[in-house]
Amino acid sequence: MDRKEFLINLTKSTAFVCTSCYLASCYGDENNPAAPPQNVDFTIDISQSPYSALQNVGGSVYKDGLIIARIGTNTFTALSQVCTHQGTTVQYEHNQGRMHCPNHGSNFKTDGTVINGPAASPLKKYNTSLNGTMLRVFS
Ligand code: FES
Repeated sequence: MDRKEFLINLTKSTAFVCTSCYLASCYGDENNPAAPPQNVDFTIDISQSPYSALQNVGGSVYKDGLIIARIGTNTFTALSQVCTHQGTTVQYEHNQGRMHCPNHGSNFKTDGTVINGPAASPLKKYNTSLNGTMLRVFS
């Protein structure tokens, strides 16, 4: 490879890397937030780590792109953990009865609907079913 070929290849490689970086920066864009998980169906044992926080009302865990929270004695909620504004992971705040995004302050009800923006779209909600200590989460 001569010097000219080397420079041409270097230019092509640089262009590819820059294009990849540009496309990656689209993640988290409010016009293109990460898609919520589809076809969800898993079961977790809430008596075992790392899900044991769900034994107590107010506890929450993350699994496979979802946040799962125990919002009452016999009530759970499972939502996409990805804020619909720019993709930050939301947090469950039991005392406020909401999911909170620490990035720009969006809040969501425990059913995923928007309380306040800047997020304009709800968090996708999934079904839950408890049988003993086994919690099924499904679309
Ligand atoms: S990423 Fe902006 S409010 Fe969540």
